Amino acid sequence: MRIPHVIPYQGSKRKLAEKILTNIEYDVTGRLYEPFAGSAAITLASAANKMGVGYVIGDKFSPLVELWKLIVNQPEYVATQYSSIWHAQLDDPKAYFLKIRDEFNKDKDPVQFLYLVARCVKNAIRFNGNGDFNQSADNRRLGMNPKKVEKESLMISSMLKGKSEMIAGDFMEILSSAAAEDIVYMDPPWQGTSNKKDSRYAYLLDLELLIEGMADLNKRGVPFLLSFDGTCGDKSYGKELPDFLNLQKVGLDAGRSAQAILLGRDDITIESLYLSPALVEKNKLGIKRNEQLAIFS
Ligand SMILES: C[S@@+](CC[C@H](N)C(=O)[O-])C[C@H]1O[C@@H](n2cnc3c(N)ncnc32)[C@H](O)[C@@H]1O
Repeated sequence: MRIPHVIPYQGSKRKLAEKILTNIEYDVTGRLYEPFAGSAAITLASAANKMGVGYVIGDKFSPLVELWKLIVNQPEYVATQYSSIWHAQLDDPKAYFLKIRDEFNKDKDPVQFLYLVARCVKNAIRFNGNGDFNQSADNRRLGMNPKKVEKESLMISSMLKGKSEMIAGDFMEILSSAAAEDIVYMDPPWQGTSNKKDSRYAYLLDLELLIEGMADLNKRGVPFLLSFDGTCGDKSYGKELPDFLNLQKVGLDAGRSAQAILLGRDDITIESLYLSPALVEKNKLGIKRNEQLAIFS
């Protein structure tokens, strides 16, 4: 089965989803929580692979969460609105992008957000100090084709409608109802990238709060996986996480980075995935899944 995707989000874990999910080696009887959802790559891959009995898509950036609600519950509306925005740009795409960006900064319309993500440079959303979207358009592209948006939204809705909850808020609020039978996948904005002046995503990661949050999940026996830091060639990003969290580190081969390809270098990016003690314990007890996982194509 093909896994659908509809939000082209910089930092999406689409390509790593299969490798991440192979670290869950037991049948999850509860819900999968993705509190730093972005494009919700792990939720989509889990749902396509029938891992978990329900899904919680959370993010602190509320227009993104509103977009997820629409994709899941009103995919036809997303398709129609996106198509009308997309077609209206054709006379003057440059000026039109700026007009939609201004409107979005006033009204926070979720489908306008989808258009901005799809059309902006490297699909990398950026915000100024006032929280206004300020990324420029990539003028070589018109953004995801409306037909694709329709097809993917309908498929996602058929997988998630009636089985998912969308929550806007801080990750710990989102996770307040998570229990031992659930599983949590976390992909906070990287330390290595979020301290720059022009901030990625809408919010920065507070490392202390992340550590506190993980300690709390451990205390509650909630199994989780965390993508954090990483190395690329001789550069490494991020600090080690404290020993008292008892996390098991796994290196995932993320292939060559776009930068390395551009420079003709062979650096392989290794992304770190941390497994919580409750997850490691459940993996030991669980029956190893042997089936072929569905993949993004
Ligand atoms: C690295 S991106 C996640 C990408 C995602 N794994 C994917 O596949 O698209 C991090 C996300 O975390 C969100 N975020 C940042 N701080 C947060 C917080 N304290 N609580 C919840 N979400 C947060 C950002 O808005 C952003 O969408």
